Amino acid sequence: MSVVRLGLVLLPPVPMAQTPASMCTPLKTIKDSLSHRRRYMKHNFPINYTIRVHSYEVFKLSNISRMRLQVEGLVLQRLWFQVNQGILKKIIRVLPERHPSRSYTAELERRFRDVEGVFVQSHPAEVLEQDLPEGIQDTWDHLTEDPDRVPEYRWRYASPKSLLDNFCHTMHCLFSECFPSTEVQQDCEYDKGKV
Ligand SMILES: *[C@@H]1O[C@H](CO)[C@@H](O)[C@H](O)[C@H]1NC(C)=O
Ligand SMILES: *[C@@H]1O[C@H](CO)[C@@H](O)[C@H](O)[C@H]1NC(C)=O
Repeated sequence: MSVVRLGLVLLPPVPMAQTPASMCTPLKTIKDSLSHRRRYMKHNFPINYTIRVHSYEVFKLSNISRMRLQVEGLVLQRLWFQVNQGILKKIIRVLPERHPSRSYTAELERRFRDVEGVFVQSHPAEVLEQDLPEGIQDTWDHLTEDPDRVPEYRWRYASPKSLLDNFCHTMHCLFSECFPSTEVQQDCEYDKGKV
């Protein structure tokens, strides 16, 4: 729950989520995979190829900087998992079995599920099941809605590469303890020390 929601605006903000050290190894494995994303998500696709995603699946550093004052880091991490799980599924769905990016993406998804498993294990269930702040709950409900019921105006077209760019940058930002002193972190306005 955010400080603002409690009405205790004069108290120091709640501490931001600390990334459990056990997540760093699997996150770094994902980082290694992502370092090949240009080849697998751009060069292997037709020029300007896009896939249809939910508008809330566009989740970038700018979203984090807008939300960071209202929303705890742990909540943003939960949202990160929810969003990127959907994105990986959507990318895999357009790839035929023998497409040269298929096994790369399947492997990335496996690694993603591994780190999600560690994330779930390293927090008490009651923490992960805590009610989400209202705005985030709305986003969550939209993301998990039956795709047939999503109105046209909520769809966006995005290239697989741009989606994985967002995936990568937001990962560095939200789990910054695992990625000390990387360049991306300097763009990350989600500065836990200052919030
Ligand atoms: C790809 O998109 C760019 C920018 O919109 C455009 O200039 C270019 O002509 C497009 N290329 C093709 C092959 O459609
Ligand atoms: C991120 O911001 C864009 C607008 O810049 C918005 O369309 C998108 O829904 C936001 N994503 C999330 C997860 O809130």
